[in-house]
Amino acid sequence: MKEQLAKIKSEALSAFEAVQSKADLDALRVKYLGKKGELTAVLKQMGKLTPAERPAMGQLANEVRAALEGALESAAGKLEATALEHRLKAEAVDVTVPGKPVTVGHRHPMYIALDEMKEIFIGMGFTVLDGPEVELAELNFDRLNAEEGHPSRDWSDTFYFDREERVMLRSQTSPMQVRAMDSMELPIRIIAPGRVYRKDEVDATHSPMFHQVEGMVIDKGVTMADLKGTLNTVVERMYGKGTKTRFRPHHFPFTEPSCEVDVQCYKCGGVGCPTCKGEGWIELLGAGMIHPRVLEMAGIDPEVWSGWAFGFGLERTAMRRFKIDDLRLIFENDVRFLEQF
Ligand code: DAH
Repeated sequence: MKEQLAKIKSEALSAFEAVQSKADLDALRVKYLGKKGELTAVLKQMGKLTPAERPAMGQLANEVRAALEGALESAAGKLEATALEHRLKAEAVDVTVPGKPVTVGHRHPMYIALDEMKEIFIGMGFTVLDGPEVELAELNFDRLNAEEGHPSRDWSDTFYFDREERVMLRSQTSPMQVRAMDSMELPIRIIAPGRVYRKDEVDATHSPMFHQVEGMVIDKGVTMADLKGTLNTVVERMYGKGTKTRFRPHHFPFTEPSCEVDVQCYKCGGVGCPTCKGEGWIELLGAGMIHPRVLEMAGIDPEVWSGWAFGFGLERTAMRRFKIDDLRLIFENDVRFLEQF
C-alpha cells in the first residue's frame, strides 16, 4: 500500500507538472483526487490493515492527498498565468501601425443647391416652411382651383391612399401655399421645399419621387413685375451675374396669368447645344399671379391683396448648378459620384 501511494504521488505530481490545458487538469483531478479516483481506491483498502498499521498509513495517505492538492492548485495557477499572458499579447496595441483614415461625408449636391437657394430667399425676407408629404386632395387640388376631372387628379398620375381619392402623396409643393394662407398672418413671404410624388417611370429626367421648392408672396399691391424682379435676382445669384431669363405664357389652374420661366443655357450661352436641345434656353420653373379664386377660398380678399407664386424642381436646379446630366445619379447615392461636389 505504501508503494501504491508513492506511485500515485509521483505519477500525479509529474502529470500535474506537465498539464497544458484546463480540461486536462480537470481530468487529472478526477483521475487522482475524485470520488472514484485512484487515491480514494487505495484508502478504501485501509480496512484490510491491522489497527497498528493504520495510523502511519493514514498519515501517509493524508500527506499524499495534501501534496496532490497543492500540485493541482499550483498547476491551475500556472495555467491561468499563461492564459493571461497570451491574452495580453493578443490584445496588445501596436501604436506604430498606421490608423484607419476617418472618412468625413459632406452635404449632398442637391442640398448644397437648396441651401444656397434658402440663403438667397431668407436674405429677401422669406420664411422657410416644411409640410406633410401625405396630403389631402382637398389642399393638393380643390383649394388650388384644380376641380374634379382635372387631368392631374387622375389615379394613373397620383398615389392615392383611399378609393375616395381624399388622401394622397402630394404631387406638388403647391398645397403649402394653402397651408400658409390658412395659418399665417398677411403679408406672407414663404418658400417651402420638399418631396413630391407622381406615378412616373424612372429615366434620366423622371423619378416617382422628386423635390420641389414652392414660393409665394401675398401683400398689397404685389404685381408680376415683383415676380420677375425677384426671380431674376435669384437666377443671377445662382447662375452668375448677367444670366438671362425668359418668361413664357403657360397655364396653371391656381395662377392667372401663368408663365413658365426659362434660364439661358449655361453651356452655350443661348446659341443652342445638346444640353439645351438646341433651344438656347432651359426650363426653370412655373409661376404666376395667384388666382383670385384661390385667395377667396382662403378667405383673403383679392380686391385688397394680391400675390404671386412659383414652383420648381430642385433636382433639375441642382443638375444645372453642378452640370449633372442624369437624374438617377442624384438618388443612387454612389459615394464615388457624390464625392466630387
Ligand atoms: N405646382 C406646379 C407643378 O408642379 C408648379 C407651379 C406652377 C407652382 C405655378 C406654382 C405656380 O406655385 O405658381 O407643375
